[in-house]
Amino acid sequence: MSAVLNYEPFVVSPRRGPPRLSPIQEEVLALKKERNAVILAHNYQVEAIQDVADFVGDSLGLSYRAQAVKSDVILFCGVHFMAETAKIVNPQRTVLLPDRNAGCSLSDSCPADRLAAYKRENPGLYVVAYINCSAGVKALSDVICTSGNAVKIVSRVPDDREILFVPDQNLGQWVSKKANRRMRLWPGSCYAHVQFTVEAIEKVRARFPEAPVVAHPECVQTVRDLADEVCSTELMIKFSREHPASHIIVVTESGMLHRLRREVPEKSFIAGPTDSCACNDCRFMKLNTIEKVRDALKTLLPAIEVPEPTRSAALLPIQRMLDWSK
Ligand code: 13P
Ligand code: SF4
Repeated sequence: MSAVLNYEPFVVSPRRGPPRLSPIQEEVLALKKERNAVILAHNYQVEAIQDVADFVGDSLGLSYRAQAVKSDVILFCGVHFMAETAKIVNPQRTVLLPDRNAGCSLSDSCPADRLAAYKRENPGLYVVAYINCSAGVKALSDVICTSGNAVKIVSRVPDDREILFVPDQNLGQWVSKKANRRMRLWPGSCYAHVQFTVEAIEKVRARFPEAPVVAHPECVQTVRDLADEVCSTELMIKFSREHPASHIIVVTESGMLHRLRREVPEKSFIAGPTDSCACNDCRFMKLNTIEKVRDALKTLLPAIEVPEPTRSAALLPIQRMLDWSK
């Protein structure tokens, strides 16, 4: 294997002091107050958004936060299924998503009508759905999980039930092994995480031989197998804080590096590479910009709605997850 890189590794160095806000970020903060809004942001959002958010976190933390919001408006900076989840758990609030087209390839890989047909043909399955799915899929599921609690959730499913895990086959494979539980896996995947390769990571590792590798479970098995730790984006913070290394290779979407730099300011983080690029952006997450955040607060659009019968059916498996993962 050649150790020659066709790009420079993407490294973020220790952060010094709090960020200086730009005029547009100041405008966002003023509008947020005026609208009585809360900004929730996923770890993959751009730095300018993370720096004005009230809470930045993974899908699990964001779900708890969304449920507890008392303000009139939740501006959800993430992708559609996340904003939809916020609306399901807290329907009285106006939920905004800065860009209506911020979808998710993984969610799209499991349309609700195909899952309904599969369940009809295979009755009796216990459906565990990764939160990266539509409200329609959630409504057909028995329990929801996130990458942060998937092992715990799967372990709580009664032993006499056969599990169908949707929609991520990579997360499903990882959970199946960790929980020692056979499951049927829906053949979906995240277009971004499957681009990380062992070969690209090994080349970067040759430059930083002391750096441990932390990878998201949506990565393919060969990548997960080489990682020192496989975990959700939130647990990557704990891992980075506790590991003695000064440099850490982070195999997930590049927005995570901003969050890590803020939470673990004394360390350097190296983006997980693909065969063609030093880092990896999710094209859906990156549709949200600070300008669109401002515009959403000005216009209260685009607002996310979930039709009532679907919303209440989707709430049950989400609530089960929140109760089981306490
Ligand atoms: P986390 O819940 O680990 O933040 O993952 C969400 C996601 O979309 C990963 O691609
Ligand atoms: Fe979906 Fe993948 Fe983007 Fe996460 S990184 S939101 S799973 S497309």
